[in-house]
Amino acid sequence: MHKDTTVVLSKTMISAGSSVLAALSEDGLKISGALKVVDGMSGNAVSLAVKNGFKAEKGELKMLYPAGKLHAVLLLGLGKRAELKQDQFIDGVADGAKAARSAGITELHVLADSFGVEDSIRGITLGSMLGTHRFMKYKTKDLAKVKNLGKITIMAEDPAKQQKAFDEAKIVADAVKKTRDMVNTPPNVAGTEEVAQYAKKIAAENRLKCTLLEEKDMEKLGMGCITAVGKGSAAKPKIAILEYNGGAGKPVLLVGKGVTFDSGGYNLKPTNYINNMKDDKAGAITMLHVIEAVARLGVKANVVAAVALAENMVSGMAYRPDDILKAYNGMTVEVTNTDAEGRLVLADTLAYSVEKHKPQAVVDIATLTGATMIALGHFTTPIVGTDEKLIGQLKEAADATGEKVWQLPLWEEYGEAMKSDVADLKNSTDGPDAGVITGAMFLKNFVGEAPWAHLDIGTTVWSKADKGAKQKGATGVCVRTLIEFVKNWK
Ligand code: BES
Ligand code: MN
Ligand code: ZN
Repeated sequence: MHKDTTVVLSKTMISAGSSVLAALSEDGLKISGALKVVDGMSGNAVSLAVKNGFKAEKGELKMLYPAGKLHAVLLLGLGKRAELKQDQFIDGVADGAKAARSAGITELHVLADSFGVEDSIRGITLGSMLGTHRFMKYKTKDLAKVKNLGKITIMAEDPAKQQKAFDEAKIVADAVKKTRDMVNTPPNVAGTEEVAQYAKKIAAENRLKCTLLEEKDMEKLGMGCITAVGKGSAAKPKIAILEYNGGAGKPVLLVGKGVTFDSGGYNLKPTNYINNMKDDKAGAITMLHVIEAVARLGVKANVVAAVALAENMVSGMAYRPDDILKAYNGMTVEVTNTDAEGRLVLADTLAYSVEKHKPQAVVDIATLTGATMIALGHFTTPIVGTDEKLIGQLKEAADATGEKVWQLPLWEEYGEAMKSDVADLKNSTDGPDAGVITGAMFLKNFVGEAPWAHLDIGTTVWSKADKGAKQKGATGVCVRTLIEFVKNWK
């Protein structure tokens, strides 16, 4: 079985034979403190590298095999320290760890103090853990040949001062890793029942209250939308609700789309579009790990996570175009496209959990539309909502973590496109125009009066590149932003 890289924090101690990752910035290319020791132990390899052209430009990486006592010295350029964004910092560390692994290094020592600035320990921890993480659970052959960086030791002069930041960053990185793993888990393994059990396990391990609504409960409650989406699958739809009580007052409500596989239903997705639709549960998986991290961090807030689980399949039982459904809040919805199922499962989940928990604010996250790619491309998550303050708080949290979100408008006029001739709403528009926004406009009908924001991770959920902190596959996008958001919640 493959094991992920272990990351620990310890006091700086550079011993013979070790491999060291150190950073330099363009501001002066200063070789001081522990880096000076490294330079001394490596026959001045660091000073020579600088003399011979290492400029410490942003992302510049130089692997040295010096004469002297050390096995390898890996230099990472940070560019101008003040201009370096948190995501670039994390990606730099991650690329450093990846380079060390490719070079066959099995234990890496990171010289934290060479990165400058007190709070760099967070970025180093995240870069080390996310950059090395891989999804290998289903690989059975030639595992011994896979290069493995067994351990990263982050070394600081005064580790006690950094311990809290390190422990917190580890909780956050774990949340991202677990999100990636679960989103990468195939739909024959992670169906609605398995994800519901997974939610229960998280709740039990973190002493959260957990309520599971089964299909029968949902039918009784009048949730005609999520039950319709689930009809075509042997895996029954469910809603899992986790509650964390860390503070006073009404909770923040986190809602996630958990479609364990999206075939499109009778509006079947074609080849190339149907592949990867296991990632359609990412919203739900994200919220489960956000509430888990919030609990592990002991954040002083009340949080409820409600995740909508269903599988969108084709069968004689499946819902069809032209069906008219009745949502939990009484609104009727004409199905014009069975592939616009995400908004249906969210409609009932939002309406029910808002009514039940009377939240101060609602945030939902969903792989809702492919239109996200046209709107903002591969690395920016669109955000929309009804409350500028709430959106501002989410944008601030995203900025702090280095994730990229960008607001799109939610002007009333966009609602026109969701009106049906025969019901209150239809679930898809006639054309592709403004797909991210019209999808959100649909959801807006189900959030009541509470301030609400919606993150559409239809594109950012997945990475095609193995670069920086990302691996090919699920990204765990917005986990960090949402944890930061709840941490700062007042
Ligand atoms: N899960 C998809 C969105 C998606 C598509 C995510 C591609 C990632 C990659 C969602 O259920 C969907 O099919 N949306 C449709 C909506 C349309 C029918 C209104 C879409 O985006 O095409
Ligand atoms: Mn769909
Ligand atoms: Zn979907």
